[in-house]
This record gives sequence, structure tokens and C-alpha cells, in this order.
Amino acid sequence: MKIERFKVEEWFNKYEYWAKYDLADTCVDSLSINELLEITGKSEDFVAEVFSRKLNYGDIHGSQRLKNAIAALYKNQSSENITVTHGTIGANQLVMLSLIEPNDKVVSIIPTYQQHYSIPKSFGAKVEIYRLKEENNWLPDLDELEKLVGNDTKIICMNNPNNPTGSIIPDDMLYEIAEIAKKSDAYILCDEVYRGLKHDGNPISLSVADIYEKGISTASASKVFSLAGLRLGWIVANDEIIKRVNSQREYNTISVGILDDYFATLAIENKDKIISRNIEKIRFGKQILTDWLKKEEIVSCVVPQGGTTAFVKYNKDIPSEILCAKLQGETGVMILPGTAFEYENYLRIGYGNNFEELKTALEIFSTWLRK
Ligand SMILES: Cc1ncc(COP(=O)(O)O)c(C=O)c1O
Repeated sequence: MKIERFKVEEWFNKYEYWAKYDLADTCVDSLSINELLEITGKSEDFVAEVFSRKLNYGDIHGSQRLKNAIAALYKNQSSENITVTHGTIGANQLVMLSLIEPNDKVVSIIPTYQQHYSIPKSFGAKVEIYRLKEENNWLPDLDELEKLVGNDTKIICMNNPNNPTGSIIPDDMLYEIAEIAKKSDAYILCDEVYRGLKHDGNPISLSVADIYEKGISTASASKVFSLAGLRLGWIVANDEIIKRVNSQREYNTISVGILDDYFATLAIENKDKIISRNIEKIRFGKQILTDWLKKEEIVSCVVPQGGTTAFVKYNKDIPSEILCAKLQGETGVMILPGTAFEYENYLRIGYGNNFEELKTALEIFSTWLRK
């Protein structure tokens, strides 16, 4: 099976290991196991319990306790509507493997994580791209979307809260998107890996799985719980979809690993503590970013409402890949080029981490731009 190169991941492979200032990361200050135990108030007895566990395959589709904790992140779900995966990346791929066939029409809303259009293309599906626009605050125009979906779409692939723009689809708009999908009996695969990182109000935004029978939510412990190293994600969907996914899953997952399951359960059961830690950090980082945006004339951006990244437009006649490569080569500041998301003259900046580094790196970037 031929597949296009995964631009973001390849950029990371090439540039991240030697970045002096990493503004490309999308996690919120990842936790160590010690920090996780401290936040959740667990003692050495807990560690002794972990160490005494036999390292067998564990519960094949995820432990009951983990699935109960995940179900509590949603309004209308129970453990039967959940299967556990290798990260959101594994979740997205499993859903696509289970539902998409050659010649199926797939509508993909971009900018997004590249899986959502390149995998369907690699399966021989007819992929229609819907491009979000900055002037619409990176939200879809529903008339345009409805026209594109038509009555022959099998699945709509989207990402909410959105990476890279940080936009969050308002509840009433999400209901309308579900209505559009319903007219063509289409599934909606919504990558909700940043759900839980809405900056204001309730941090946990509406999930497509809670409002639409054929809505599928994928997510993980990576961003919201700062535990990307666990490689633990999940799919939430109706039982019939979960059955189809699980029959594919037998071929590529078995189980996620009992330690991953164990620590993810602990984190998700303590969601309020971890999410408030992370929202506080993100708000701090966002303030540094917005202060810089106000000062720096060459750049502008729709202020993100959720997640950990901003999609920043720059007003200079230089392709984003060249800009990013030169910037890093000359200063050590790593930023992702917009072309990794199919948009030119944009940059993705992550602001959920290393705040001193963020401040310094943005200043270095400004000085470099002026040169
Ligand atoms: C939108 C989106 N989906 C999926 C992933 C993969 O996440 P995970 O670590 O849960 O596999 C990422 C990682 O950056 C992402 O931004």
C-alpha cells in the first residue's frame, strides 16, 4: 500500500533532536510517573502494587476500570462503547481500516492531522478536501460543507479542538454538522485528542460521539493528561462500530500493555486535577504568545480557544519550509511550517511547554525576522 509522506512527523524526525528551543511540541509539559503519583496522591504502596503485577497481556480491549474512567469523559457512553488503542494515531487508523473502502467518498476538513486525508487516499477512497479559512475563525462554513458532503459521503473526517489552529466548534455548529452527516447517512470521525483543553469555561467540549449515532470520537492520554509516553488512546462509538473496529483490532493491537492501562486509569480517574494543572499552564503560555503577537508586526493569528497550538500567519515573501529550516539552522528555534498542513505562509507554534524557553525563543525569532 502506497501512502504519502507524513509531513509533520517527518519534519519532527529531521529537526526535533537538535532543536535548542522546541516550539513544535503539542503536549502540555509531560508528566513523569513520580509527578503523576504526586498529583494523584498515590503512595509507595501503589508503586509496590504496580511492581508486583505479572506482565501478561492484561485485558485485551482495555481494563474495565480504564473503560469506566474513559466513559466518564463523555455524556452518553458506557464501557461497551469503548475500545482501547495505541494512541489516537492507532485509534484513527483502526476506524479508517474498519470503515473505508476503495471508491468511498471521504470528506476531510483541513488543516488537520494528516492521517485524516492521506490514509483514506491510500485505501483508494475519493477524498474531498474542505479547507477551513482564517477569515471564518477556522470554523467551517456550513453551506459550503453541506454542498461538498452531498448525499454520497461515507465519512467526514475532522479534528476538534483543532490542531493546528486551536479553534473549537461551538456546540450548535457541531449539532448542525451532525445533521449534515445524517442526511447522507455518513459517519463522522472526530479526532478529539485535544478535548479537555478548552481554555475558558468547561475544559471538556462537546463530543461528536455524544450527539450523533454515527459519530466516532478518538482521543488519548497524550495531550490532555500529559502522558504521551504511555501510547494509550481510545475509540468511542456505537456498539456496532466498536464490534467492527475490534475485529480489525485483533490483527494489529492485541492489547495496549498493562502498565499503560494502569497509569492511564490513574490519570483519567483524577481528570479534574490534571486538567486544571494543564489549563493553568496553557493559559500562561497563551499569554506569552499573545503578548508577542501584539508586538510583532509581521505575524498575526486567530487567538486559539483550545488545545496547545496556534496557526500564525506571517507577512514575508519566503516559503514556510525555508523560513523554518533557516530559522532553526541559524538560531536553534524549531517551529513547524504551514505546508506540513497544506497551508503556505503559516507557522504552527506550540505554547504549552517550557515557558522561559517560549519567551526567549519568540524574542529570538523577532530579532531574526528583522535581520
Ligand atoms: C490531531 C492529532 N491527532 C492525533 C495525534 C496523535 O496523538 P497520540 O499521541 O494520541 O497518538 C496528534 C499528535 O500530535 C494530533 O495532534
